[in-house]
Formats: sequence, C-alpha cells, structure tokens
Amino acid sequence: MKPKILVTREIFDDVLEMLAEHFEVQANQDDRPMDPPTLARNLADKAGVMTTLVDRVDGPLLAGCPTLKAVCNIAVGFNNIDLAACSRAGVMVTNTPGVLDDSTADFTWALILATARRVVESDAHLRAGGWKGWYLKQFLGLDVHHATLGILGFGRIGQKVARRAAGFDMPVLYHSTRRVTAEVARACNAVYVTKEELLARTDILSLHVPYAPATHHLIGPAELALMKPGAILINAARGGVVDDAALVEALAGGRLAGAGLDVFENEPALNPALIGFKNVVLTPHIASSSAATRHAMALLAAQNLVAALTTGQPPNLLNPLPTGA
Ligand code: GLV
Repeated sequence: MKPKILVTREIFDDVLEMLAEHFEVQANQDDRPMDPPTLARNLADKAGVMTTLVDRVDGPLLAGCPTLKAVCNIAVGFNNIDLAACSRAGVMVTNTPGVLDDSTADFTWALILATARRVVESDAHLRAGGWKGWYLKQFLGLDVHHATLGILGFGRIGQKVARRAAGFDMPVLYHSTRRVTAEVARACNAVYVTKEELLARTDILSLHVPYAPATHHLIGPAELALMKPGAILINAARGGVVDDAALVEALAGGRLAGAGLDVFENEPALNPALIGFKNVVLTPHIASSSAATRHAMALLAAQNLVAALTTGQPPNLLNPLPTGA
C-alpha cells in the first residue's frame, strides 16, 4: 500500500501526478485554506505533508498525527514550523532553498525601483485621470544609481540582490550575523559594516534575514531613528522582521522617503495605516512568484517528500534526527 500524504494547498498538476506515482495523495486543488482543526483532521492518518508558509505545524498538531514522518514546506522560510517539536516527534522537516533566490532578488529590485521612482503612485494618478500635462517637477523621485545600497542579512538572496547593484553603480554595504569570505564580498562588491553604520549610511535598506525570535522587530523604533533621513526601506523577507507600527510612525513623521513591502505582520491583515501612504509600495508576499520559480519550489518540496518517505534522506532536511527516530 502506498503511504498517505496531504498537500495542503493547490499545486501544479504535473507535480501532483509525480506525487501520485509514490503516494495515496489527498490534494486540495480547490485551494481552500485549512484552519488548524481542519489541518489536524486531514493530517491525522498521513505519513507526509506538503505545507505552505501559512500552515502552522506545532506540538499540538503533531500530537494528533502519530503516523507523520515528514513535513515538506513549499518555501525557503520555515517559521511556520516548530522545528524542535518536529524533531521531538521524529518528524523530518524540509524547505526549498536555492530555487527561489534569483526570483526573490529580482523582485526586491522591482520594489526598490518602484518605490524610489514612484512607479505605482504615478500609475494610479494617470489611471485616475489626474494627468493633465507634462511638468518639470512631476513625480520627482530618488535616483537609484550611485545611491548606497544596504543589505541586512547576507545569505544567498541578500548576495544576489547585491550583485544586481553593480549595474546601477551603487556602493553596497552589508551587515549579517556571519561575515562572508573576502572572495564572496569581492564578487558582490559589498563591504561589511556594523548594523548601526548600515542604518546610518544607507540610502536604500533591503532586508534579507529569516524570521525567528532573534529577528523579531529587528527594525523597530530605535533602528528607524538611526536610518538616514530620506532613506527607503525594502522588506521582501518576512513580516515581523519590521515593527510595522513603528514603520508607520517613521513614514508619518517623514523620516523615510518611502518603503517597498512584500511582507507584513499578521498577513494577510496588514496595518491599515500603510495603505494611506502614497510613497509605500505594497505587494501580497509574491517575491518568489514567477511561474517557473513557484513550480520549481513545488517540485523540490515534492522531491523532498518522496526522498523523506523512501530513503529517509531528503536533500533539504532541516532537522537531522537521531538514527532510529
Ligand atoms: C517565501 O516567502 C519563502 O519563504 O519561500
């Protein structure tokens, strides 16, 4: 008998077909989000699950899933999963690193350019019939070229964002808990600075840290107060890394020139004050969402699930378990 698995949200048909070769699949192609009781009910008899970043996997859920062996997240971030609880329960957890780096870095640049050059605001003005003619001082924006780009969190995605800055002749500064090798720093044309220096010297600050207790409100009132007046903040990492209420205050006080945000605290319910700012570009957590990349993410998660339940060695295992677990 094939092991039973659950796929919590709609995925690509060919990936579902691949899963069906190995498993008895309970799919959700209607894409109805599962609340925690529904997820628990559907997972009670499963050996594996493909989750998305909106599915919470924690101790109470695992307590009702005695046969569960693998949770394969279709995301690089895994803050929706209690890794320690999974390890205690002997459940393997995987994510999808690598395949979304370029698309996420591309989108970060979309936010940078859209925010600095007021693309969304001017588009809305035109569509609303507000364009009555050409003016020299219309929609004056900030130059991106030669501005100082600051990157907080310098893993794969942060580095890809840095590399793209070369075309704009930008000095690049970074801060990260781990410094990269001289070779990587040279390839990215990036210079390590303290967090304080980064905040003070950067014209465009882009965040690329995972969300974890240590990065909760990494950008809060104190950090926003240290930012260069007139700077732009970009967040395509995770909601909760920025204290959104503090950001609203900083924007209202005119300290920042703008913000480009793809992620929010309490998604999808974002802080309503953000909607009132014309100098803020808001997108619904789509940084990785090119057709090719979302497919690659689903496929990698499926490959992880197949490997987890057949060999016990998925390529992107996050929590090596003691042998025999
Ligand atoms: C998207 O946010 C991801 O973590 O993959």
